[in-house]
Amino acid sequence: MKKLLIVANLKSYKTEIEAKNWLDKFKSVKDLDLNLLEKMVIICPPFTLLEFFKETLLQNGINVSLGAQDVSPFDEGAYTGEVNAKQIKEFCDYVLIGHSERRKNFQETDEVLLRKTQEALNNNLKIIFLIQSKENIIPNGVEIIAYEPTFAIGTGNSDTPENAEEVALFFKEKNDYTFLYGGSVKPENVGNFTKEDDINGVLVGGASLDAQEFIEIIKNA
Ligand code: PGA
Repeated sequence: MKKLLIVANLKSYKTEIEAKNWLDKFKSVKDLDLNLLEKMVIICPPFTLLEFFKETLLQNGINVSLGAQDVSPFDEGAYTGEVNAKQIKEFCDYVLIGHSERRKNFQETDEVLLRKTQEALNNNLKIIFLIQSKENIIPNGVEIIAYEPTFAIGTGNSDTPENAEEVALFFKEKNDYTFLYGGSVKPENVGNFTKEDDINGVLVGGASLDAQEFIEIIKNA
């Protein structure tokens, strides 16, 4: 039985009160007969909410992991506005690197992504490295990759499970990656992806903003 990874990317959404409402609903995840040996959940809130998520999940005995959505390419220092890997590691174990929204809106080049990867690795963060196609370069040391074609992000127009499986095979022939699919994953289509042999889980954006919808995704995965 393969272990599935189900990742929520809350992007630049949620204030503290909105996060509280989300978590109040998400608590019912405990009532699910979730076999956590088979399904592992990672939530990636904005930096401002990492501590709140950490405390609330702990207080409620909810066994899911947390990740950050980005990391500074630099170590600690005079880099105004940046959050470095050592600081992130105080709150969580995972980090997303290479999302297409960051490559596009913040001009993150392969070189920058390599530096971020090195900072994350130096601080024992587990990286979920996002790629948009077979052409992307994956830095050494990355073990989890998430394939998210840009046409599928936030459009309701997901890639086909067959194509995602083909991309998974392409990369798994190079390295023993854990392979996630992302892009318009919904409760209705998640099972089509996770049933593919080489897809080890999903990365969910829009549909994770509603806690109930995200729970449905976890159930149906
Ligand atoms: P989406 O986003 O699920 O809204 O398509 C996925 C992502 O950008 O990580």
